[in-house]
Amino acid sequence: MKETKQMSTDQILLDGQEYVMNTYGRLPMALVKGQGTRVWDSDGKAYLDFVTGLAVTSLGHSHPEVVEAIKEQAEQIIHSSNLYWIPNQVRLAELLAENSFADKVFFCNSGAEANEGAIKLARKYAKLNFGNHKTEIVSLKNSFHGRTLATLTATGQTKYQNYYDPLPPGFSYAELNNSEELDSAVTENTAALIIEPIQGEGGVYPVTQEFIQKAREICDQKGVLLIFDEVQCGVGRTGKLFAHEWFGVTPDIMSVAKALANGVPIGAVLATDKASCFQPGDHASTFGGNFLTTAAACKVMEIMTAEGFLQGVRKKAGYFRDKLQGLADKYGLTEEVRGLGFILGLPVGKIGPDIVRSCSVKGLLINCVGGETLRFLPPLTVSYEEIDEAISLLDQAFGENPAE
Ligand SMILES: Cc1ncc(COP(=O)(O)O)c(C=O)c1O
Repeated sequence: MKETKQMSTDQILLDGQEYVMNTYGRLPMALVKGQGTRVWDSDGKAYLDFVTGLAVTSLGHSHPEVVEAIKEQAEQIIHSSNLYWIPNQVRLAELLAENSFADKVFFCNSGAEANEGAIKLARKYAKLNFGNHKTEIVSLKNSFHGRTLATLTATGQTKYQNYYDPLPPGFSYAELNNSEELDSAVTENTAALIIEPIQGEGGVYPVTQEFIQKAREICDQKGVLLIFDEVQCGVGRTGKLFAHEWFGVTPDIMSVAKALANGVPIGAVLATDKASCFQPGDHASTFGGNFLTTAAACKVMEIMTAEGFLQGVRKKAGYFRDKLQGLADKYGLTEEVRGLGFILGLPVGKIGPDIVRSCSVKGLLINCVGGETLRFLPPLTVSYEEIDEAISLLDQAFGENPAE
């Protein structure tokens, strides 16, 4: 057995190809250390991380207070099961409820699981209140909600569904920001409508104010629960604690995950008292809300809700967006920067993957969604100097990869 510390990069890549299932198009590198905005690979090369583990390490890598909370908790107890109360979990539920529309929270381990739980909760609520016909889930085309069978069916992109049929029945789709289509898709058989306030994997497309307001109205008129999937855009990412706060429209249920514990796996379903109809035995998760993950998440919530934190994020994000738009203008890109706060997308066309590769060679990690949109997810704690450095590396990458 090889010690991982002693494995060379070549060995990691070779063994990875031999033993790890081939589910990701990985770059040929392994990250072994992270501190703040910076990560280091197994050859000791440093990078600015504007991917943050896909919107997860929002407070930067190994944030000292989060590390301390994890260490302290690990020394006490890591796991007990939900057969008993878990103090950190109770505290986290309270923090989430105090800082959102929600009254009650269920904890699980990932974004897909949170959406799965949200869908189950909505179906139970609809059955209890309206009868057995009301089971359908409406979602949006180009959305992303996860990889379990129900959530990949809710995901409005067939590329994620190929090979997995028969898919669970009871799902239909409407176009983002098309209120008329939404109105006809939501019927008397609809239990819930699920929307990402900003489509992340789909290419960084925010909802319009008009559409999200209309979605709320349609749901209210037709007795349908509104679910916001804030797995990617929630927990500070947009410069508000939750992205829907920008629009002044609240859901009945919301899923969050990713950044909530800054890297320790977690998922959560937040709901109003009205929608919270689970009873013992209806839904569960062995690891959900365990001591370790909720210790980290309580610390994340404390930091993000501290006075001035999110205000500072909005200011820095505005600075970054202006700089990014400046680059887009310099290189004659025709489409504008999309997104809110620190979830930004820059459509660049076919050169997207080349820019990602060039940036990684130069020491900047970004990624590309939908094949043609560069996505930027820096830590919320990124400094102005690091933003300038990232912009300069991007400038060089654009210089070397002219748009077609
Ligand atoms: C909006 C959204 N929902 C759900 C998921 C699935 O989350 P997970 O990969 O934690 O299951 C993702 C992941 O990218 C996401 O962006």
